[in-house]
Amino acid sequence: MADKKKMSVADMLAAARKADGGDASPAPSEPAASSEPESAPAASAAESTSAKPVPKPGSADRPGVADILAMARSGKSAEKEKPAAKPAPKAAAKPAAAKPAAKPKAKAADAPAEPRDTASILAAARKKERPGPVSKGEAAAAAKASPKAAAAKAKLAVPPMPAKPDYAKPKPKAAAKTAASAERDRRGFLSVGFWALGGVTAFWSLLAVRYLFPNVLREPPSRFKVGFPDEFPAGSVTTKFKALYAVWIVNTEYNGKAEIVALKTVCTHLGCTPNWLEAEQKYKCPCHGSGFYKDGINFEGPAPRPLERYAIRVADDGQIEVDKSRTFQEEMGQWTDPACFIPA
Ligand code: FES
Repeated sequence: MADKKKMSVADMLAAARKADGGDASPAPSEPAASSEPESAPAASAAESTSAKPVPKPGSADRPGVADILAMARSGKSAEKEKPAAKPAPKAAAKPAAAKPAAKPKAKAADAPAEPRDTASILAAARKKERPGPVSKGEAAAAAKASPKAAAAKAKLAVPPMPAKPDYAKPKPKAAAKTAASAERDRRGFLSVGFWALGGVTAFWSLLAVRYLFPNVLREPPSRFKVGFPDEFPAGSVTTKFKALYAVWIVNTEYNGKAEIVALKTVCTHLGCTPNWLEAEQKYKCPCHGSGFYKDGINFEGPAPRPLERYAIRVADDGQIEVDKSRTFQEEMGQWTDPACFIPA
């Protein structure tokens, strides 16, 4: 019975074919031995096989190939289905010559089940390998076990490090700070922080105060004194009031009369500020080259008209006073107004 259970599907198929008589090469004693009932007398195997008639396939004592296949597929043993097919223990009583003849045939039937194509062989080889990641412990064990890892470890052996020179040795640490010095440092840090905070606060306070006052454009007064008349000799051009008051104080002749006048330092072309050239005795505009004589009459360049005069007079204290709120133009005949000159 134990030998019968160990039979593979191929063995069972081979035995069934033998029993059906479809195979021409079965051993003569095999079908009789396998199909012999367990209750048969324990006579010699040769006698029992020759004496007992072979049951017909499909009968109750002898299952057919389809039955055996069905039983094999369902995983059930043929013994449970048909007690008559159980006489496996009788295999011990089989002739010694019959058993070796059946074994090679069963092995030959198993052979085609093995994978023969390349894909099947590769798949079977891969199945033997463990798929997926391995744990750290397994990886370390595998690395230790592999001779390559041992060789790599041997390669990592480095010569001993040379001794450090004196300049590379770390300097001994400074003595630990005492509690008093640490407290002193802490207070110094805090005082610096407070001073910085105070400075920022004062800065923003000043800005806030400045915001309360309006922006005022402070200009020089339009009426001012420039000195006594004798400070302006005949033929002189005083330029010291040009930067502050934008005026020349000139002692010149106009229409044959000596006069002290206040000329406006603005070019009558496009408003640039001309310069007095003492060597050339003329005013020259740097923008487009307009030229004016000492008395302010234009004579060259694009300037269309003479320079303008401011009102001028001798104040009560005897000094010359200029009033920039009034101007006089020569082309309009205003230079004859006594308010625009002081007889020299
Ligand atoms: Fe003086 Fe043009 S602005 S010449």
